Amino acid sequence: MSDELLRQVKVNGGLPAHVAIIMDGNGRWARERALPRPFGHKAGMQAVREVVEGALAAGVEVLTLFAFSQENWQRPADEIFALMELLEEYIAKEMAELKTRGVTVRFLGNLDRLPDSQRAAVERLMAHTGGGSRLALNICISYGGRAELARAARMLAEDACAGRLDPAEIDEDAVAARLYTADFPDPDLLIRTSGEMRISNFLLWQISYSELYVSDVCWPEFRKAELMAALRAYAGRQRKFGGLIQDMPPPIPEPSERRSGHGV
Ligand code: FPP
Repeated sequence: MSDELLRQVKVNGGLPAHVAIIMDGNGRWARERALPRPFGHKAGMQAVREVVEGALAAGVEVLTLFAFSQENWQRPADEIFALMELLEEYIAKEMAELKTRGVTVRFLGNLDRLPDSQRAAVERLMAHTGGGSRLALNICISYGGRAELARAARMLAEDACAGRLDPAEIDEDAVAARLYTADFPDPDLLIRTSGEMRISNFLLWQISYSELYVSDVCWPEFRKAELMAALRAYAGRQRKFGGLIQDMPPPIPEPSERRSGHGV
């Protein structure tokens, strides 16, 4: 990635701390090539590597990827099997590199539904990469936004029934603290690929004020350049969080316009 591109995405402090991605279009990518659907998922793995690289290079702090939804369990058994195999393959291939690069990986979702072998693999990767300080990579597996909220409600009820929590004290922070994402800020930017304009039960609570960016590119073809295009678009947005538009700071001048000897 060129310094100029990085300068553009960082201009005005416009780099999102947390980027979430709905990786969509693997099946279409495969169909367009007359390939079975699992080939699309396999090609999608390369795109995962690319966005992790891109996020590290740009200085994104948290990257959350939607890899397998709770609803995806309804897909044909052979596609589920292929996705589970891919997950294990990804872990085996990437574990050492992720650790070296300072990436902490967490899997978010109902991991109890994973077959034993994949469950052991995701736990191995989480344990092995714990403590990495450059990028938090969250991979949502067997995840549903409504299920996550129902789970948080259940935890609140259990705490209240056990006398650990006064129901009058239940507020937004109390809910957020019981989500899988409790340790992370909300996504600043939500990207969806393959041109679809849907949220698909992803991070329903957390994306309340996320900026949305839809790329027409199918996930297997998503590369660093597409990520940078999304980051650039984000840098040009004015976030209001329901309030009024704040005065934006003046843009950083081109290096040639800066005079030497002047403090910034
Ligand atoms: C959606 O495309 C994508 C998925 C259900 C799976 C995503 C999986 C990967 C990118 C590969 C593995 C990832 C990791 C982290 C190991 P779709 O099948 O719904 O596409 P379609 O809408 O074109 O049919």
